[in-house]
Amino acid sequence: MAFSLPKNSPLLKKDFTYGVATAAFQIEGATNLDGRCESIWDRFCRTPGKVLNDDHGDIACDHYHRVEQDLDLIQSLGVDAYRFSIAWPRIEPSPDTWNEAGFAFYERIINGLIERGIKPYLTLYHWDLPQYLEEKGGWINRETAYRFAVYAQKVVARFGDRVTAYATFNEPWCSAFLGYRFGNHAPGLQSDRLGFQAAHHLLLAHGLALPALREYAPNAEHGIVLNFTPNYPLTDSKQDQQAASFADEEHSHWFLQPLLTGSYPKSIIEQHPEWVPTQLDEDLVIIARDIDFLGINFYTRQVVSASDQEDYNIISPQVDGSMQLTDIGWEVFPQALTELLQGFKKRYSNLPPIIITENGAADNTSPNENGEVIDSMRVAYYNDHLNALHNAIESGVNISGYFAWSLMDNFEWAEGYSQRFGIVYVDYETQKRTIKHSGYCWQEFLNKRGKD
Ligand code: FCB
Repeated sequence: MAFSLPKNSPLLKKDFTYGVATAAFQIEGATNLDGRCESIWDRFCRTPGKVLNDDHGDIACDHYHRVEQDLDLIQSLGVDAYRFSIAWPRIEPSPDTWNEAGFAFYERIINGLIERGIKPYLTLYHWDLPQYLEEKGGWINRETAYRFAVYAQKVVARFGDRVTAYATFNEPWCSAFLGYRFGNHAPGLQSDRLGFQAAHHLLLAHGLALPALREYAPNAEHGIVLNFTPNYPLTDSKQDQQAASFADEEHSHWFLQPLLTGSYPKSIIEQHPEWVPTQLDEDLVIIARDIDFLGINFYTRQVVSASDQEDYNIISPQVDGSMQLTDIGWEVFPQALTELLQGFKKRYSNLPPIIITENGAADNTSPNENGEVIDSMRVAYYNDHLNALHNAIESGVNISGYFAWSLMDNFEWAEGYSQRFGIVYVDYETQKRTIKHSGYCWQEFLNKRGKD
């Protein structure tokens, strides 16, 4: 068996959903075709020094022109589901203009998946905001949240229950904090205040979109995808432990707590009143509307220690040479996935069913002389994280699905094409796809499920 799990593991049952994931901007290319407008990522890529090697998404994996072939590829892996995102710039290329070519493109994907027996998992927003909305302040502008709700309604009105699950947002932490607070993602602003304001508007947009999702797709599941990098203390000292828990409040619970309980974490508000976003009283009620699933993206952990000057010091991944790192420099620490899930179950009595919507590793192994890609590090990573998930399920956490990031190598945001996360290798010169060893392991694992 390619991946080895305890016999009778719930992860081996046929009703556990497995899939592969991608995002529009990372794979589609064809950025100027069929009426698509510019997105903040097109602009960011064109801004010198923002993206490694000035890479951009103009061609990417040329998925726009290779949909049928890519759908066949997905089917050949034996997955139950495919998670992809819709490019808002294709659907609404200028305010209130609804572009049929955009809808038609995603309709082909959805229908093509269904024909192949694969469940469509649709993400409405995976970071590619139309640039014309950024001109008006992007996610700092409250109006963007209302614009998102209209866009969401148009999409769900078209696709309805053909889609198995709708996620409003992928990783609002990244959109808000990397985009407006730390500046390493589009649009590249650097302000704590604006980062928290953007985060609030993203969560608000999520809540505002939910009623239309429920109305037009009453039989689909609706949720949101958050990313978590749990913080671990450098030592057992009380100070380091406090530093780690503060960092978790700031980066994890600041996003999850309002969604589940309608309030922001107190410790952060007390420590940093200047971060608290401008908001209306009813916003948190909207944000905390019921969801059917919580998508979790997990890759790594972070080690922190107490600091005299800052809230905490970020130590990892350079603690010592013993840490195993993937090619992007993220530590491999699967136990953090188990502990994260257990911690959430303990803290939130209304934790919805969880889907692991992304998990994977950057393993940049190239094809060998026979053209094979033997990405053993990635195979080990998947194996270890599936086992970590098994442990979480055994301890009572409700988890119903797992998506490998990613179907194929693609545009890795600020890292350009330098980091390869695919279980399928993409030769960007020829656009040839080659299933990697990890892809074959998935294939074997998925085909054998439920048969032992
Ligand atoms: C996540 C993103 C995804 C991909 C992986 C490696 O943060 O959602 O698009 O880039 O990281």
